[in-house]
Amino acid sequence: MDGYGLAKIILIGEHSVVYGHPAIAIPFHSLRSEVVLTPNPTFMVESKYYNGPLDEATHDLRGIVALIRKIAKEYSNVPSVIVSIRSNIPEQSGLGSSASVAKAIIHAFDSHFQLGLDNSAYFDLLSISENIYHENASGIDATTVINERALLYQKPHMTPIKVNLDGYLVVFHSKTKSTTREAVMHVQAHPHRDIHINGLGSISANAQWALTNNNIDLLAAMFNASHSHLKALGISTPVLEELRDLILANGALGVKITGGGMGGSLIALFANEESATKAQKVLKDFPSWTINIRDIK
Ligand code: MEV
Repeated sequence: MDGYGLAKIILIGEHSVVYGHPAIAIPFHSLRSEVVLTPNPTFMVESKYYNGPLDEATHDLRGIVALIRKIAKEYSNVPSVIVSIRSNIPEQSGLGSSASVAKAIIHAFDSHFQLGLDNSAYFDLLSISENIYHENASGIDATTVINERALLYQKPHMTPIKVNLDGYLVVFHSKTKSTTREAVMHVQAHPHRDIHINGLGSISANAQWALTNNNIDLLAAMFNASHSHLKALGISTPVLEELRDLILANGALGVKITGGGMGGSLIALFANEESATKAQKVLKDFPSWTINIRDIK
């Protein structure tokens, strides 16, 4: 393996982060992308969805194509290669699959050809694909997968957060696809956009305090308040609402959409491992992953 990229979880502040409000995100170590580079007479891509010349890659890969072209143009010592991509992050799940794959590609070129890229060079390159895939990307996904630590992000700055909370976070995948681009455009045109975006923005400070002062009840209340605003903005779906009700009925203290929404994933807070595992067992038809919040760095 030449390069990798982790998934990400937005704890609080998706959508409002696009409008300059602070948001909190963490790296997600259970899911990742990996890239291998193999010298070849021409640039080619090898992936689950497409195998063939870079120049003929499908529309879905347009962000990655632009990224690889930019690297090849910018760094003259980079020869043509086959870019082999593997990822176990579900596509369009709200868990940062596109940023993770792009980070893995940049990391692969950086380590294989010793480009000596710093974080700001990673961010500039990652923004190429993110801005193609997402309308008006805030930069939170890119910042989280590059820095690989819990952080508060307020465009364009990030501050590391020292998490101090007893509890468990479970990611539940709704098995429906999140469409971040459409969701961001939908919010933009919403008649009550500013009320809910400002409401979402004001939640981050309390959530940060709760997360760093071991107050799970306050964090859960902030999860629920945040979900209400996202729902009012039209970002939830009947499938997400039904799943959320089931998770709450099975012991979660707070549940919300994570990422772009309109499908994708929910995150749920549980007081302990036992209650988290119990809910996962009952809801075993939905893929889920548990994080001990004490392990978040
Ligand atoms: C996507 O992971 C998060 C959004 O806030 C969009 C963005 O910040 O670019 C919905």
